[in-house]
Amino acid sequence: MCGIFGYVGKKQNAAEVILSGLKLLEYRGYDSWGITVRQKRNVKNEIGKFIVEKNVGKIGGVDLSSSIYRVDSTIGIGHTRWATHGGVTVKNAHPHLDCKNEIAMIHNGIIENYAKIKEDLIKKGHEFISETDTEIVPHLIEEFLKKEGFASAVRDAFNLLKGLNAIVVASSLSKQIIACKTGSPLVIGKSDNGFFIASDATGIIKHTRELMFLKDREMVILGDDVQLLTLPEGKKKKLRFEKIDWKIEDVDKGKFDHFMLKEIYEQPKVVRNIAENYTGQIKELKNLIDNAKGTFLIGAGTAFHACLAGSYFFSKIAHTHINTTVASEFNYLEDFLNSKSLIIALSQSGETIDVIEPLNHAKEKGSKIIAITNALGSTIYRMADYKLLLGAGPEKAVASTKAYIAKVALLLMLSYAVSGRVNRAKKLLLDASKEIDSLLDKKGISKIKKIASVINSSEHLYTIGRGTSFSTALEAALKIKEVSYLHTEGLAGGELKHGPIALISKGTPCIVFTPQDETFDAIISNATEIKSRGGLIIGVGPKKSPVFDYWVNIKDVSEAQIIPHVVFAQILAYYLAVQRGYDPDKPRNLAKSVTVK
Ligand code: G6P
Repeated sequence: MCGIFGYVGKKQNAAEVILSGLKLLEYRGYDSWGITVRQKRNVKNEIGKFIVEKNVGKIGGVDLSSSIYRVDSTIGIGHTRWATHGGVTVKNAHPHLDCKNEIAMIHNGIIENYAKIKEDLIKKGHEFISETDTEIVPHLIEEFLKKEGFASAVRDAFNLLKGLNAIVVASSLSKQIIACKTGSPLVIGKSDNGFFIASDATGIIKHTRELMFLKDREMVILGDDVQLLTLPEGKKKKLRFEKIDWKIEDVDKGKFDHFMLKEIYEQPKVVRNIAENYTGQIKELKNLIDNAKGTFLIGAGTAFHACLAGSYFFSKIAHTHINTTVASEFNYLEDFLNSKSLIIALSQSGETIDVIEPLNHAKEKGSKIIAITNALGSTIYRMADYKLLLGAGPEKAVASTKAYIAKVALLLMLSYAVSGRVNRAKKLLLDASKEIDSLLDKKGISKIKKIASVINSSEHLYTIGRGTSFSTALEAALKIKEVSYLHTEGLAGGELKHGPIALISKGTPCIVFTPQDETFDAIISNATEIKSRGGLIIGVGPKKSPVFDYWVNIKDVSEAQIIPHVVFAQILAYYLAVQRGYDPDKPRNLAKSVTVK
């Protein structure tokens, strides 16, 4: 939710440095954006004045001849916004400034007590131009600056804020930038050219791999050097920079038109990596599950669909009961947790607030936490007693593809490990990765494009499955609706007759997942019920049926079938979005990392 990028150092073109960082962070929010730099000297020979540029919409082809990109500046901050308080307008875009234009700040989070603080500041004569909660902060700092220096003013202002927040502040009177956080991620990069601060590492790694992930209740001062302090006290802490080994190509689109397509194509490699390299770590997790009294899988959005698949795997393969629920509901369902409980939290970003909140409560009760995440150093990663990285590489498209597939592959390995047959999981995963390869070859893609062209003007689409394929149906529907805006509902095959079948009329398309397992006969009956009411059936599975109007032949890979079946839906979603004229990487109203409730 919202992307933050800041720079202080020797480079003279701070605005350009920040712009290129923001472009990489845009997946965190893209309704508006802005940059402020501290000018070294302006035409009137004044030192340190701010120049601000703000725009509504995505960062498109920016005009680098505009003044902000031409001034000499070694300090600046920038922000991409996902609106919470206040509409999508230039005035509401960050950075926000104080009355004297001496303090500029950017923010990620929600300031829960902003209304009262704003009221008090207005009484003191401060003037506000936006509807945001954020704008109170530069004005608060302005107040504190009347009696103290920049760093203490930022700290004292931040300590008054309620909620989970991250801020970065620049002052026209100082050569430092200061950041504080109680929630939302912030990473510092250190190089010979200066310091970088961003919401995640991807914006920084082209400059440096020496990173420090800020913890909650920490403050950092960046200038000629770096200081790390505690919050609220402001006591000095030891720095903890580490070297990370992501490659730059990992965050580039390469030869692909969109990140989503690139990430879909990376999936065979991701699955093979898990099959070949995770046995040791999986066995450690198995022991934790064996010793727990009550294990729960939690996640949000796509991650929840992986959790649902996992709970079927554990029942079917390991004959073990593992419960699951969407993370945002777990808060209301966790009163029974105790020190013997085990929570397995799935999260690509490791920053989803809906997952962090229940984990905090679980920790208070002494429960153990396993984090399965793609982001080293993320909040959920740090909170966990045991951590497992997905190893999928940076995922940039808002709609999750390869991280979902990695989660499913890991849960399949884990459930087979609990049943003492981890080698069987490895074989199934390698078979599944071959099936993805077939879907991605020329013939596979042209078939899926054809199906997309048949249904791309439909108003509604339904996806159905039973057993493990129920989770496939849910994930397929989510992927299609989020990137193509074609209304799609995922259903358990058995639920159709309890209401949704009323929506089927002549030509209504329905994707039916028909694996070669115990669900086959029943799901074919459901498909027949739809067909009898005029529905158009797209069957996905290893066995053809006369009820299918279109058949996507995917070989039987036993419980690993979820993997190629969902990949089919991802590719379909991608081409539906493209054919309907939308950008699959940046669906409207969404953000990749959701750090607010
Ligand atoms: C957002 C994203 C989804 C993602 C969900 C959970 O809603 O748009 O793609 O599935 O968050 O994200 P996480 O990082 O916790 O897996």
